[in-house]
Amino acid sequence: MNILILGAGGREHTLAWKLKQSPKLSNLFVAPGNAGTAAIATNLNIGVNDFEAIKTAVLTKKIEMVIVGPEDPLVNGVHDFFLNDNDLKNIPVIGPQKAAATLEGSKDFAKEFMMRHNIPTAAYESFTAESLEKGYTFLESLNPPYVLKADGLAAGKGVVILNNLQDAKEELKSMLVDAKFGTASTTVVIEEFLDGIELSVFVLTDGENYKVLPTAKDYKRIGEGDTGLNTGGMGAISPVPFASEAFMDKIHKQVVIPTVEGLKKDNLPYKGFIFIGLIKVDDNPKVIEYNVRLGDPETEVVIPRLKNDLVEVLQAVANQTLNEIDLQVDERTATTVMAVSGGYPEAYEKGKEITGFEMIKEATVFHAGTTLIDGKVLTSGGRVLAVTAFGSDFKEALKLSYQNIEKLNFEKMNYRKDLGFDL
Ligand code: AMP
Ligand code: GLY
Repeated sequence: MNILILGAGGREHTLAWKLKQSPKLSNLFVAPGNAGTAAIATNLNIGVNDFEAIKTAVLTKKIEMVIVGPEDPLVNGVHDFFLNDNDLKNIPVIGPQKAAATLEGSKDFAKEFMMRHNIPTAAYESFTAESLEKGYTFLESLNPPYVLKADGLAAGKGVVILNNLQDAKEELKSMLVDAKFGTASTTVVIEEFLDGIELSVFVLTDGENYKVLPTAKDYKRIGEGDTGLNTGGMGAISPVPFASEAFMDKIHKQVVIPTVEGLKKDNLPYKGFIFIGLIKVDDNPKVIEYNVRLGDPETEVVIPRLKNDLVEVLQAVANQTLNEIDLQVDERTATTVMAVSGGYPEAYEKGKEITGFEMIKEATVFHAGTTLIDGKVLTSGGRVLAVTAFGSDFKEALKLSYQNIEKLNFEKMNYRKDLGFDL
């Protein structure tokens, strides 16, 4: 089978690495990909939102399945584009159609979905510029900290948490009236602050059946001890040590089943990964967000733990026979540590040569922001490399991730040295 992956990060390199292990794979393409995917697949110089160019590539390369990595093309309707095109409609796309992708594309839509299906989440209200004064009144009724969320996609920056009421009011005005996040903040969701520890659960569904994939916890802040600015993710651990069987059972019954059933009831076709962001509050799960894709860097620990042939699993998603798959998961813990460019998540330099790959032992390096130029691997993004390792527990796995990341080098490379500190 010829497969095309859309995307360019560590998630996509990990998917490519896993698909390569399948005897069912013939040719693998990644658009646009990075230096890591270039080593194991054919990169196509096509943007993830250039649907016409994707179509041409799919037809000329005889691609038989498309896996969508990031949310953008899904929210923009890439799956619908395929279904509405006579030449493409029989080529399966892994990733939901536009309507269901709104679960990530609109926080307000996601909150309404959770309310409708009794899925536990933070209390909330939504506001627009017209209801700004009501927003102020609602803020006054809450206890700090205040959680304000731009409704639309804001490249992971749309959630603002503030301790001071006056600051929260000013932030609300800046989002609604001054369009701080452009059209993404035309509507703002204000919600109750949830105090607890975060984890993510990944579900794969064919629209009818589903499988719960391994849990993961990511480290979002740039600074040690979870301080400083939010990033795309500085590392991840799977499984999450505090996700006991009893707690997972609650997540399954209160969140996973109502989500999959809710999609069906609401007539929202979904074939793909669902990323459920949760906070554990007093031993109960509360949903903070849905993403309509796998997480990054969570993929770098979740997918390596999967023992199944991923081509087979995704074919079952396409054929709606996921119930026939027996998911096998490696019992060991996987950890990944992300090497980032100095300065990230603020301004940083690109184009730095990366060395040390040949010294890596007992770990796998997944490329995120890298590019191959004249045979050299150069940095091309904020998050550059993810170093994944296995161990009998997270401490053992982290030791290997750290031993190996130390062998890699580029100018101003930075990484968090305290992953797992909170576990
Ligand atoms: P999101 O973009 O929805 O993932 O939110 C970004 C981060 O904000 C989350 O990972 C949480 O750490 C935090 N967050 C979001 N909603 C809440 C909430 N209601 N209470 C506490 N923290 C939250
Ligand atoms: N690591 C968080 C995300 O992929 O959204």
